[in-house]
Formats: sequence, C-alpha cells, structure tokens
Amino acid sequence: MLYLKDGFGRKINYLRLSITDRCNFKCIYCFDDKYNKNKTDLSLNDIIKIVRASVNCGINKIRLTGGEPLIREDIINICQNIKKINGVEELSITTNGYNLMNLLKPLKESGLDRINLSIDSLKSDVISKIAFANSNLSVNYPQLIDSINKCGFKNLKINTVLLKGYNTDEIKDFVELTHYNNLTVRFIELMPIGPSIDLFKTCFIDSTCVLKVCSELKPLGMDGVSSLYKMDSYMGNVGLISPVSDKFCRFCNRIRITSDAKIKTCLHGSSEVSILGLSEKAIEETIKKEVLNKPYSHNLDLKKKSNSVRPMVSIGG
Ligand code: 5AD
Repeated sequence: MLYLKDGFGRKINYLRLSITDRCNFKCIYCFDDKYNKNKTDLSLNDIIKIVRASVNCGINKIRLTGGEPLIREDIINICQNIKKINGVEELSITTNGYNLMNLLKPLKESGLDRINLSIDSLKSDVISKIAFANSNLSVNYPQLIDSINKCGFKNLKINTVLLKGYNTDEIKDFVELTHYNNLTVRFIELMPIGPSIDLFKTCFIDSTCVLKVCSELKPLGMDGVSSLYKMDSYMGNVGLISPVSDKFCRFCNRIRITSDAKIKTCLHGSSEVSILGLSEKAIEETIKKEVLNKPYSHNLDLKKKSNSVRPMVSIGG
C-alpha cells in the first residue's frame, strides 16, 4: 500500500479536483465578480493525467468540485474515465443539485460513488437571496433527495453553510430531513474567504448554535472533519463542520487542484503551483514536493481572513 505523507506525518489520500470555475449560482459567500479571470475548464486529458498522477502518489479518494461540476456537458464521460483508473477507490461530487435529477441515472451508471449536495435554504425566496439564482434554477430538494436515495447513492451528505439572518431559523427544518432519510446534514461555519471576508462580520455564527436550537442532539464522535450528532430514533445524522471555531487542520488529509491546474495544499494558504502542461510523471513529482510543503494549519481563527488569493468559486468548496 502506497502512502503519501506531508511534512507533519499526515496521510494525504484525498484530492478535491475543480473541473470548472463556472457556476450557475452566484452565492453571496462564494461567488466574486471582482475576481476577474477567464473562466476555465480542465480538459478531459488533463483530468485523467492529474488523477493518474495522484493515484501514483497514494491518493485514493477523488471529489469533483467546481464552480458547479454538473455544468460540464461531458461530466458523465469524465466520471467514466476516472472510474477506469486503477487505484481510485471512491469518486464523489459536490453539487448545488441543479440538473442533478436528469443526471442521476447516468451518473450512477458511470460509477460515481457518492454525492454531496449543497442546500443553504429549503425556502425558495431565501435561496434566491443567497444564491441570486433566478427561478428557473430553483430545485425541488425533498424530491431530489428521495430520487438520490432511490437511485442507490449511499451516504448522501447535505452541506448547509450557516448564515446568520438568512437560514439560521431553518436549523430545525434541516435536522428534520434526517428523520426519515438515511443522510447526514452538515452545518458548515462560514469561512472568511473572498466575498465572505466582509459577510463574515455580520453573518458568521458558531456551529454550536445548532446544539442550542436542537438540544436533543446526541454526540456520536468525529467523522473526518465533522463532529457527528444524532436525534434519537431518526434515521440520519447531523454533522457540524467548524473550520473557524474548532479548526480541524490536524486531521487534514487533502489537497486541491483548481480548474486552471494549480495545486493548493491548504485551502486558506496563498501558495499555488501550476502543473499545466506537465507530463504525468512531472505532475506526480510536483504533487509529492508540494505535499511536503503543506502548511500545518490555516489561521482563520486568529486573523478572521483567509490568505487564499482566490474566492471559493474558483477553488471548489
Ligand atoms: N464558507 C463555508 N463554506 C463554503 N463553501 C463555499 N464557500 C464557503 C465559505 N465561504 C462550501 C459550501 C458549499 C461548498 C461547495 O463549498 O459548503 O456547499
């Protein structure tokens, strides 16, 4: 078994690959129109080369992110090709759910293993405010969740960014989604990055607010970067992801590659190293070198500001 370890002995086995920085939502905390850059998609060839090189280093989990990855017309082909690569043990995707209904069956057939669905509100007027999405983009979430489960995708995770004044009155409704569905709703603390640096001052709320609203939640322990809880007799779980109030860098097992082919070993670090045009072997060497330089932690908790030079829309959640 091949292991990739960073300079602090952390095992790195997880690549988050942004395949496009285009998105059909313009979420207030993620999208930055001041970030002027030509929109970029990673070519299928680059995707395959990057995944092969990563697997050769010891990565076995791949997550496709964006922008919005389902915006790519060749998304099924991308998944099929990645799943053919020996050593990819899990392929997952993070999506806002737009067009997912139509893609569920082909995605399942392509070999995609898991889905993380971003839902910041269950109310369409609030979604419009957060995502500035027009009504054509609205998603019927309860129906979508049902179809994802029926299609055979296991371990569905719903990501909800806690935004004080926008969705904090819906915490109970989100927890209620775990009543009759075998899924995990994960409340994520707003991180001060890109457009969120300003928003953070008014909208940040500590994830423990969830425990105050739902005092019946019972702790189950850690699951990766989230602390898990459960309501008695409910089918699903509730997770708290607390990058600001309780940072989890000591458990970090991931690297990111952006849609313009830059390696970021820390989401909130300023370092970006390009692998564009490199051979598979050279990509492999660059990943190994960058992983050794991976910083131990970010300092959002102290600085209240990310050092990342790009907003989340061009890194990918
Ligand atoms: N703070 C916290 N989470 C964020 N995401 C994007 N921007 C931020 C931010 N500023 C996450 C959301 C979304 C995923 C794609 O990226 O969880 O679900």
